[in-house]
Amino acid sequence: AQAGQLSVTLRELAQHNKPTDAWLAIRGKVYNVSHYLSFHPGGVDELLRGVGKDATTLFDEIHAWVNYESLLQKCYIGRLVSIDPEIDT
Ligand code: HEM
Repeated sequence: AQAGQLSVTLRELAQHNKPTDAWLAIRGKVYNVSHYLSFHPGGVDELLRGVGKDATTLFDEIHAWVNYESLLQKCYIGRLVSIDPEIDT
């Protein structure tokens, strides 16, 4: 897939929930954080709590001030979308 062009549903996001294949969404933006994991100042296990899901609330609870958009620029995949709200939310 080409960077920045994917539309990702919560259902697809949920498939990418392990260290070697770790996606998460913050404020509608989906990132592949697999390569960021070992650089996360809060540790691998903490960051893994947010993978495979919309991690916005979790992220904000801990460090809403962190500039994830800059840090994860190269990890950006696409937008979180809701095709069928009945199913995907
Ligand atoms: C620090 C958890 C996602 C960047 C921390 C700390 C925790 C944490 C507990 C505090 C470490 C400490 O004070 O000793 C989480 C959880 C995440 C998450 C549960 C799941 C969503 C992210 C993401 C980024 C990020 C996506 C950015 C790419 C940072 C940075 C710090 C940090 C820069 C250091 C903040 C500072 O010292 O001011 N994280 N994190 N984290 N995290 Fe996360």
